[in-house]
Amino acid sequence: MSNFKMSEAELAEKFQQRIDAEQKIEPKDWMPEKYRKNLIRQMSQHAHSEVIGMQPEGNWILRAPTLHRKMILLAKVQDEGGHGLYLYSATETLDITREELVEAMHEGKAKYASIFNYPSLTWADVGAIGWLVDGAAIVNQISLQRTSYGPYARAMIRICKEESFHQRQGYEALMVLAQGNEVQKQMAQDALNRWWWPSLMMFGPHDTQASDDGTIKSAHSSQSMKWKVKRESNDDLRQRFIDQSMPQIEFLGLTVPDEEMKWNEERGHYDSGEIDWEEFERVINGNGPCNRQRLKHHKAAHDEGQWVRDAMFAYKEKQQARTTKTA
Ligand code: 3HC
Repeated sequence: MSNFKMSEAELAEKFQQRIDAEQKIEPKDWMPEKYRKNLIRQMSQHAHSEVIGMQPEGNWILRAPTLHRKMILLAKVQDEGGHGLYLYSATETLDITREELVEAMHEGKAKYASIFNYPSLTWADVGAIGWLVDGAAIVNQISLQRTSYGPYARAMIRICKEESFHQRQGYEALMVLAQGNEVQKQMAQDALNRWWWPSLMMFGPHDTQASDDGTIKSAHSSQSMKWKVKRESNDDLRQRFIDQSMPQIEFLGLTVPDEEMKWNEERGHYDSGEIDWEEFERVINGNGPCNRQRLKHHKAAHDEGQWVRDAMFAYKEKQQARTTKTA
């Protein structure tokens, strides 16, 4: 039976059957309005994260210790901007404009990853961001390569390739410090101390393991998993990141800032301490160390670029007028 004769309930049932059969949903396919809205929420926040994430590292481009490090950092920050544009373009396939998406972030109606609201205080932070933040992003984004929405899945495939370089260059920068003199090693340890827990927060609230207060906080995971927007839980991805990071921390000769961290042979995973969910809530609700600065900077850069957008639209209108005239 063609779509236009089916009821909303029948359409939704057919949609879920497509999801369950691992079919990719494309922009012109019928989809539940809630599926579309959930995708806009997650994908736009992902794009905002990539663009805002340029700030803490961009802060060190002019202060990189060598030309070689400056070139690597420049390339990485440019990549992140490109990831943001990819993801905005993928989100625009859901019948929403980039202006609306950016405005939602500026008005605090759309989030970006809490991690980018922490300051990058030393050069070691640039290494920690590449190693831990991009490392966590890779764990999450590899899983998202299998997300049910076609444009999002395809964007992830390209982005994951570049993230691998980001993570390796960060770890290598920290290795140089950790194997350097005592002051350099302390810089590396200080960066790990400040970036470890915010990196675990990147995976979101508990959605399979209860918090210490016995609550499960994720608002979206269960529905997102049903629609295969998410393919693995926040907690499973976080555990994978912890398990992969611990041997790397040991190789650097550093200490993880979690006294409860220990290998659990029976589980085959590390048992870790509880995240400070009050800090998490504070930061995602606008009260982290750098929230206001990050948004102020983004708004200023966006306003400064208005003339470029005006010129592009003027050119587009002129082209359209010329085409209409000759048609
Ligand atoms: N920072 C900010 N907000 C967060 C968050 C975090 N670390 N974790 C969760 N939240 C928010 C959610 O957005 C949601 O709020 P909302 O309803 O206003 O959107 C609320 O907390 C509840 O969380 P849920 O787990 O229910 O939400 P999700 O199902 O969306 O899961 C997520 C959260 C795991 C971050 C998921 O959105 C996701 O996988 N997003 C795509 C990946 C992403 O955005 N990564 C950000 C990093 S990009 C990056 O690191 C760039 C790198 O190259 C440097």
